[in-house]
Amino acid sequence: MTLLSRSEVPAAQAQDRAPLQNTDSATAPVSLSQAGLVLRRISHSFSGTPALRDVGFDVGAGQVVALLGPSGCGKSTLLRAIAGLLVPDRGEIFLDGQNLMSIPARKRSIGMVFQNYALFPHLTVAENVAYGLISHRRPRAEVNARVSEMLRLVRLEDYARRLPRELSGGQQQRVAVARALAVSPAALLLDEPFGALDRALRTELQDEFVRMQADVGITTIMVTHDQEEAQTVADTLVVMNAGRVEQVGSPEDIYDRPASLFVNRFMGHANCFSAKVTGAHTAALAAGPTVTSARGFAFRPGSDVILTARPEHVRLVAQNDAGAISAKWVRAAPLAHMLSVDLITPDGTLIKALVNRHDGPRYAPGDAVGILLDTQNLHVFPAASKT
Ligand SMILES: Nc1ncnc2c1ncn2[C@@H]1O[C@H](COP(=O)(O)OP(=O)(O)O)[C@@H](O)[C@H]1O
Ligand SMILES: [Mg+2]
Repeated sequence: MTLLSRSEVPAAQAQDRAPLQNTDSATAPVSLSQAGLVLRRISHSFSGTPALRDVGFDVGAGQVVALLGPSGCGKSTLLRAIAGLLVPDRGEIFLDGQNLMSIPARKRSIGMVFQNYALFPHLTVAENVAYGLISHRRPRAEVNARVSEMLRLVRLEDYARRLPRELSGGQQQRVAVARALAVSPAALLLDEPFGALDRALRTELQDEFVRMQADVGITTIMVTHDQEEAQTVADTLVVMNAGRVEQVGSPEDIYDRPASLFVNRFMGHANCFSAKVTGAHTAALAAGPTVTSARGFAFRPGSDVILTARPEHVRLVAQNDAGAISAKWVRAAPLAHMLSVDLITPDGTLIKALVNRHDGPRYAPGDAVGILLDTQNLHVFPAASKT
């Protein structure tokens, strides 16, 4: 964790909770009175290899944005640029209206928490939390009061005198969060903070983060590769791929209206089918049948496309039903009141279906079934889409 000092600029205008703006481009104009974090056209290369390409989005004051994407897509590089630990080749970063580009890391008023806790091993919990305040030469009484307040916030009042090695991973991470918040930063950056913890503990810390955030309301970016975590902690998700922002939106936007094949496949499962558009609402699948999309395809007839359908938008019917795609039942597993079914088409494509557990006939592995795609919920992307 890096503690960056509170800058001399006015604190975040907490009452000025601007709604999150969804900047389609990285270039939207910046109002200097805009509270929160504003990122514009940030680009960076390492030895000629681009790691960030024109990245831009806004985090409204007091909002939490979850930053998602596969390993290596540039998430940590972006956080390091915001914190001032790396100077990007290009781009601008504003925090509560102030341009940060000429401000050194230690004056940026940004708290950062990394995956591996990074507590000072020889300092107690209280000393770790006090560290930033002491280096800012705050009076002893103020330091003590603030440390108590922070330990209460993360529910570790009784652990003040312990050393980090005497704490569990989850407790150590709560100390790291308390340490980052102790100096009252204007923004908090969390880089896969719960990534090293097991699932149960991760869920517990996510809930705790949500509770804490309700208390402190700090402008936050949390990097995660776990979409459930993203949806638990944040109202707005930013999906990155290969150094670029693919989509900014609510969890519903991103799940129901993916802007690219990459987003469609990265957030939840997408069954993919090669097809050729034959009309405004029809396309011929490479696998044979013609499918209809109620929304239309928005591609010229003759275009090669990839159609996608979520597992819950795949219906199982008799193999000889009109328009059905042939498949074989491979296996099924219960998922609450649903059944998650794996099927395979003759060309070897694996299809996932989510069907009502008590509906329809029962199948055994190897049985022939038909698949229909929900005409209301198909997505279509150019065939050359990168995944
Ligand atoms: N200090 C560095 N030197 C060279 N390449 C780096 C450095 N840091 C990151 N990279 C490269 O930049 C890309 C983005 O890395 P990173 O931001 O760490 O991704 P993420 O956090 O999304 O997994 C990767 O290809 C990575 O190898
Ligand atoms: Mg990373």
